[in-house]
Amino acid sequence: MRKYIIAGNWKMNLNLEQGYGLVTEISGMMQDEIHSNVELVVIPPFIHLHGVQTLLKDSPVKTGAQNCHHKTGGAYTGEISPTMLADMKIDYVIIGHSERRQYFGETNALLAEKINAALDAGLTPIYCFGETLEEREAGQELNVNFQQVKEGLFHLSEEQFSKMVLAYEPVWAIGTGKTATSEQAQEIHSFIRSKISEKYGNALAEEISILYGGSMKPGNASELLSCKDIDGGLIGGAALESRSFIDIAKAVV
Ligand code: PGA
Repeated sequence: MRKYIIAGNWKMNLNLEQGYGLVTEISGMMQDEIHSNVELVVIPPFIHLHGVQTLLKDSPVKTGAQNCHHKTGGAYTGEISPTMLADMKIDYVIIGHSERRQYFGETNALLAEKINAALDAGLTPIYCFGETLEEREAGQELNVNFQQVKEGLFHLSEEQFSKMVLAYEPVWAIGTGKTATSEQAQEIHSFIRSKISEKYGNALAEEISILYGGSMKPGNASELLSCKDIDGGLIGGAALESRSFIDIAKAVV
């Protein structure tokens, strides 16, 4: 059975006190409320990560980073390496979020290097892909999503690929309040799973968790998460408040 992952990407939000408050509430609330097949992940800004990790030491809630560099160390002022994250026992790292692609010029080729570095360090990458509104309106959504997945990931061995988590995040749905319909999301998820199956075989494709992200909220989570190929959510805005984050996780039945 595929694992469901509900991951909260805080982006560049919350101060330290607010972040600590949020994780304390989340780990207190989750005990009896959530299905045992759901893993909760909090993904704070780097500067809060160590403190959050310490607070969650005895909690089943996992931690992730929002990005990492593609080298293990060296003269890269301002950057954080995947080995530093692994050393801190961070579990996940988001690679290729559309905001990184859009505002920081991250290309599929660079992201492929980041994926290699993250896997080598023993982190679980959450690789994001998704089309823009113009690409969808031009009927290019299948091509664009396949291209991002292929160029970012299809150089991996089967063993490496089996460690991946993917996240479909249509750019037009992120932070806009416009969610993909469950049909639109399911279509992309099942298409990408079929491409993974062609490349790595059906057994491996069936094991990979593919999350949906883009304005997921308690009100639309049940419909999205009940789709056959949607295995969790990467949540932005609704992850900044403990009740809505937990209510999304509760939508997995
Ligand atoms: P959103 O962000 O839930 O605020 O749309 C999702 C994401 O960017 O991961």
